[in-house]
Amino acid sequence: MDAHIGVVGMAVMGSSLALNIESRGYTVSVYNRTAKRTENFVKERAQGKKIIPTYSLSDFVDSLKKPRKIILMVKAGEPTDKMIDALIPLLDKGDILIDGGNAYYKDTERRIERAHKYGLRYIGLGISGGESGALHGPSMMAGGDEDAYREVEEILEKAAAKTDDGPCVAYLGRGSAGHFVKMTHNGIEYAIMEAIAEVYDIMRVGLSMEIPQIQKIFKEWNKGRLNSYLIEITGNLLGVKDRDTGHYMVDIILDKAKSKGTGKWTTQTALDLGVPVPSISEAVFARILSSYKEERVKISRMLDKEDIPTLQAVDGTEFLDILEAALYTAMLLIYAQGFHLLHVASGEYEYGLNLAEVSRIWKGGCIIRAKVLNDFKEMYLENKDLSTPLLSERFIDMIKDNISSLREVILRAKEVEIPLPVLSSTLDYIDGAKRERLPANIIQAQRDYFGAHTFERRDREGVFHVEWEKEAEDSNS
Ligand SMILES: NC(=O)c1ccc[n+]([C@@H]2O[C@H](COP(=O)([O-])OP(=O)(O)OC[C@H]3O[C@@H](n4cnc5c(N)ncnc54)[C@H](OP(=O)(O)O)[C@@H]3O)[C@@H](O)[C@H]2O)c1
Repeated sequence: MDAHIGVVGMAVMGSSLALNIESRGYTVSVYNRTAKRTENFVKERAQGKKIIPTYSLSDFVDSLKKPRKIILMVKAGEPTDKMIDALIPLLDKGDILIDGGNAYYKDTERRIERAHKYGLRYIGLGISGGESGALHGPSMMAGGDEDAYREVEEILEKAAAKTDDGPCVAYLGRGSAGHFVKMTHNGIEYAIMEAIAEVYDIMRVGLSMEIPQIQKIFKEWNKGRLNSYLIEITGNLLGVKDRDTGHYMVDIILDKAKSKGTGKWTTQTALDLGVPVPSISEAVFARILSSYKEERVKISRMLDKEDIPTLQAVDGTEFLDILEAALYTAMLLIYAQGFHLLHVASGEYEYGLNLAEVSRIWKGGCIIRAKVLNDFKEMYLENKDLSTPLLSERFIDMIKDNISSLREVILRAKEVEIPLPVLSSTLDYIDGAKRERLPANIIQAQRDYFGAHTFERRDREGVFHVEWEKEAEDSNS
């Protein structure tokens, strides 16, 4: 029996995706470096399914219909290269390699070039949705060889999450487009997660609310304009208790956040491309700061006051509405930064991204799925060349009456010394973006003073330089 498609890598994502594709009527071959994983998979979850287990790469390759379609779901980085190296000699021209891992987009460019040298076709496929998404329907962002994509489109569309707007998968552009969009997705994810954590902190520490009260608020918020997967799971996870101690899990989880690097890549890439994504970079730094637990404990003993007031003086219900508006504003501005990055990258790397389509496939299946993505889709349908959502009237209408709530929350929370790296940087981002004049004139003067870097003037065309020390003496004399 020839399989329609093969999956390499039987950890959480690969095994779930294999089962998902099989459930749509396909025969799927599977292979994993360590045989035990494959054995367990076929004994347990894959029992009775049209799943072909293989225990050597050559058997795996031989079990596939030609042209072969192979999804790699192995650890990103070197393991992916190793697996590609091992597969190349076994494949025929025209076969299709699909990297479904969280590859760094520049690695994808390199791998495409390498695959092409051997006459292979390559798709960089960003997959989001975690284990459950992979099993029931993820959001998938494809880039690379378009003809190859069209040959796997039907399988991917059947396996993808579905919304009222169709399956959450699309071909987004040449080369590394799919993995670039997935990386940016993860950057946005970092920032929204941190924004939610900060709002939780305001409720828990600032307002001294109990966990069930906070849970109720998140559940309530999820029914409205904040409706999203991350708000939904926060509402759910808050209610979970530890079976051993009976305490709420969130109260016993160590406050050290880990990461695998996609937020860092987004930040580094935004710096390279010159796009402001302060909320994303602050979210990465917030995780890094959290990891310095021992130091924080020591510093808190040296600096923390015991008598920090709480926010209880504030009218609770009214303040919670303000908090909701603040989080909504932050969420919109975080997506805006991500979309701006995509717009610039699309020009730089000639992806030709359709950002309405990106918004559409993010509406379901992925970790950052949210009701507001429909508005982003509409924004880009109205103007596909929009450089940043901040230039869309639709977007401005959504934030303009809410920015004051974000400001109020920050001012109040600062009085009680709650750190808000993402909420604060998001407010600074919009406060800066909406200022016709910024103090960059001082920066330019300083640069010209010490480095003769020149400056432009507001009142005339041209490039200027001033002998600042001489002029300062003359001006003072
Ligand atoms: N987990 C998620 O929520 C999620 C979401 C989106 C995307 N992804 C991406 O999807 C991919 C798979 O993720 P995962 O969480 O299922 O697994 P993972 O922990 O990232 O990787 C484990 C898999 O990689 C294989 N592997 C590791 N080193 C290898 C090597 N040198 N040669 C060959 N195979 C090697 C392992 O095989 P052995 O069993 O032999 O060790 C196993 O099959 C990753 O790229 C990940 O970034 C994950």
